[in-house]
Amino acid sequence: MSDLIPLAQMAEAVLTTSDAREKTALSRRYAGLWQAARATGAVPEIGTASPPDRPARPDAPALLDPRDVPRRRPGTPEGRAAILHAVAHIELNAVDLHWDIIARFTATPMPIGFYDDWVRAADEESKHFNLIADCLETMGSHYGALPAHAGMWRAAEDTAHDLMGRLAVVPMVLEARGLDVTPGMIEVFRRAGKDPAATQAVAAMQVIYAEEVHHVAYGSKWFHFLCGRHELDPKDAFHDLVRRYFHGALKPPFNEEKRAEAGLPPDFYWPLSE
Ligand SMILES: [Fe+2]
Ligand SMILES: [Fe+2]
Repeated sequence: MSDLIPLAQMAEAVLTTSDAREKTALSRRYAGLWQAARATGAVPEIGTASPPDRPARPDAPALLDPRDVPRRRPGTPEGRAAILHAVAHIELNAVDLHWDIIARFTATPMPIGFYDDWVRAADEESKHFNLIADCLETMGSHYGALPAHAGMWRAAEDTAHDLMGRLAVVPMVLEARGLDVTPGMIEVFRRAGKDPAATQAVAAMQVIYAEEVHHVAYGSKWFHFLCGRHELDPKDAFHDLVRRYFHGALKPPFNEEKRAEAGLPPDFYWPLSE
């Protein structure tokens, strides 16, 4: 345990690893070390780090403006590969987002449970990326085979100096959006029938759907914690921060049941929709 490097330095090492499979392997290894230390009752050092402005990423996929990313029909194998590729890209970005929140805000004192939660979330995102990258490989494709969305790190840059803004926009808006759209994606792969790649994708997305609820819940938990610390009304603070940092309105339909399970009441998100 004495050879454990401070958590913020683990985060920086993941953020500066460019190869996707190496990034997720390192992320899972560090999460395991952290969790093993925590299981003994230890409170390991958080330390400080210098997270990069943008995380290191592989040379492929090429990153394009979302308007230039070609759209494909979901009813075709190419369309399903494109959906999986987009999901893999989101999951890889999520690995970096969770390690970034650990490394970037160490000047704000937070309870150790804050770090436990984001380490677990980062570990789960790493598993999600691996599961979806495996599905792509079953289909004869791979992560990097198609272009991907260039704007994914925007929310992190916009909230790099505002922890409450980060919590509001990343877990409570973007990851909550994942709860809204994942059941529809699972349906696309169910309709593809007994094809082994489609069956594998359904199983992977069910794992993602179950685990993403925690990430939204961690966001809500720590957002409410900070509102308490600063004597802010959580709903008003959420509306202010999302309007400041998130570009555009939230899109219904919302998965009200899963959002409620994650600690997001309707009066948080409905007023921000069109
Ligand atoms: Fe995920
Ligand atoms: Fe997530």
